[in-house]
Amino acid sequence: MKHRPSALLALVWAGMWGLVFATPVNNAHGRNPASPPGSKLLYIMLDGFRWDYVDLQSAAVLPGFTKFLKEGVRARWTHPLFPSLSYPTWTSLVTGQYAENHGVVGNYFYDSATKEEFSLFDVYASLMKMTGVNVYKHNDIPEKYHFKNNKYVHEIVVSAEKGNFVMASHSDKQLPARSDFVYYGAHGYDPDVQDMKGIFFAKGPAFQKGKIIEPIHVVDVYQVLTHVLGLTPQPHNGTWNHVQDAFVQSTPATHDESLQRHQC
Ligand SMILES: *[C@@H]1O[C@H](CO)[C@@H](O)[C@H](O)[C@H]1NC(C)=O
Repeated sequence: MKHRPSALLALVWAGMWGLVFATPVNNAHGRNPASPPGSKLLYIMLDGFRWDYVDLQSAAVLPGFTKFLKEGVRARWTHPLFPSLSYPTWTSLVTGQYAENHGVVGNYFYDSATKEEFSLFDVYASLMKMTGVNVYKHNDIPEKYHFKNNKYVHEIVVSAEKGNFVMASHSDKQLPARSDFVYYGAHGYDPDVQDMKGIFFAKGPAFQKGKIIEPIHVVDVYQVLTHVLGLTPQPHNGTWNHVQDAFVQSTPATHDESLQRHQC
């Protein structure tokens, strides 16, 4: 079969460490008029791409991005997930679900072999004495994070405030000592911290040209992918209203999409 030129390209932020992938898909369904059958979707995730990085450079420094945005659509920013870490975010981007639903709640998984006996109360009491962190008992994790209703979420969750960094004292995951390492950036902070916001750029026949839409949420991206490919989305937490202005014709959501809409 002849390959058409790549019809669509979406760039999406996803946490801090790098991953880029591309998925050509042949669409045989044609259920959805967002793009003609046989269109391809190239989906690139750029990790650690803060929402305003492209605006901090002159157009001449980033000619590719400048051209892309002139020909495509951009959300003002993408609101991250809690936790604003890579693995949970990648999973939300391709499922449209919050971490409490898809279950990938962190970048690292607890090794039960190293489990130590401790009193939850003592741990909580000493954590509460620390400055620069927010400490939540499981039941007190704010609802807006859509995080607590999952069995893998621990009894206590600690979230550093901007400008602070939590390091393990005896771990091969420990970062180098402060004195000889410069932190240029980090992720995992509260999704409401503006520095945590990411990007959503998209271009192709399905999308508006040179348009900026209002901020979207990480869980909104999945429905963009399925809409473009004409696939029926699985149940997800995206909101169609957040993304509909990105498309050339505001095609009404399919029946399946309208069923999945959750206002947040
Ligand atoms: C997110 O989506 C899942 C799957 O449809 C659903 O079970 C869950 O209730 C949704 N969460 C919210 C906060 O809407």
